[in-house]
Formats: sequence, structure tokens, C-alpha cells
Amino acid sequence: MAVSPDFQRQGVGSELLRFALRQAEVKDRTLFVLGEPGYYSKFGFERCKLPICPFDKNNAHFQSMRNAGEIKFTISYETEFKTATKPVKINSSVRTKKKRRSQK
Ligand SMILES: CC(C)(COP(=O)(O)OP(=O)(O)OC[C@H]1O[C@@H](n2cnc3c(N)ncnc32)[C@H](O)[C@@H]1OP(=O)(O)O)[C@@H](O)C(=O)NCCC(=O)NCCS
Repeated sequence: MAVSPDFQRQGVGSELLRFALRQAEVKDRTLFVLGEPGYYSKFGFERCKLPICPFDKNNAHFQSMRNAGEIKFTISYETEFKTATKPVKINSSVRTKKKRRSQK
């Protein structure tokens, strides 16, 4: 979740999250979030040891709600969210221009 910087700290994020948590599809289910613990704990999320989140060292930012935490398994993303295997180069053209300039 993200709120545009101009609109942060005005209650927008809280409204969005409370709206999401009220939805019938999720309101009685076990939920997980990966994000700022200080923020999500305000809405009832708690740090969890299980399941294991491989994207977050020691589950430091991985929190849950209504999670009995008894079954050991590893979280993964749906295939639609799989990231590219190779990191994408950013600003490679800028770096190349700078390099060319410094070589002159
Ligand atoms: C985190 C974020 C979504 C919060 O949205 P927002 O509209 O600014 O939040 P709200 O105005 O509803 O703030 C609600 C409460 O959370 C607090 N809060 C806001 N951002 C916080 C943060 N990063 N950590 C801890 N508390 C935070 C506010 O101070 C407020 O506390 P209060 O009720 O005691 O006054 C927004 O700051 C954001 O987009 N940040 C960048 C992206 C990000 O970090 N997303 C979260 C990880 S997924």
C-alpha cells in the first residue's frame, strides 16, 4: 500500500486499510502483510514466527492477523508477482554518457 507523499499523514492510508479489512472475502480470514511493523500493528497485525517469509530476514516486517502460527510452511508469491530473474539496469544510458565524458 502507498499513499502519495502530498496526502500522507491525513488518514488516507488508515481509511484504505480499514476498508480492505472490512471486506467479506477477508474479514474472518488469516491475513499476512509485509510492511512497516509500526504502521500495521495499529490495525491489529502482529509479528509472526510462522509461516516463514523468505523475502524478509527473521520475519522482521512480516506480520499476521488471526494466525495460529502452528503450521510450518514458506510463503511465496503467486506466479503473476514473480520478479524478473535478472535485475534490471537503471540509468545505464546516463552512466554510459558520464563514462564517455570522463574518458575525453
Ligand atoms: C505507510 C502509509 C501507507 C501510511 O499512509 P498515511 O495515509 O500516511 O497514514 P495515516 O495518515 O492513515 O496514518 C495513520 C497512523 O499511522 C501513522 N503512520 C503513518 N506512517 C507510518 C509509518 N511509516 N510507520 C509507523 N506509523 C506510521 C500515523 O502517524 C498515524 O498515527 P496516529 O493515528 O497515531 O496519528 C504511507 O505513509 C506511505 O505510502 N508510505 C510509503 C510506502 C510504505 O511505506 N508503505 C507501507 C509498506 S507496504
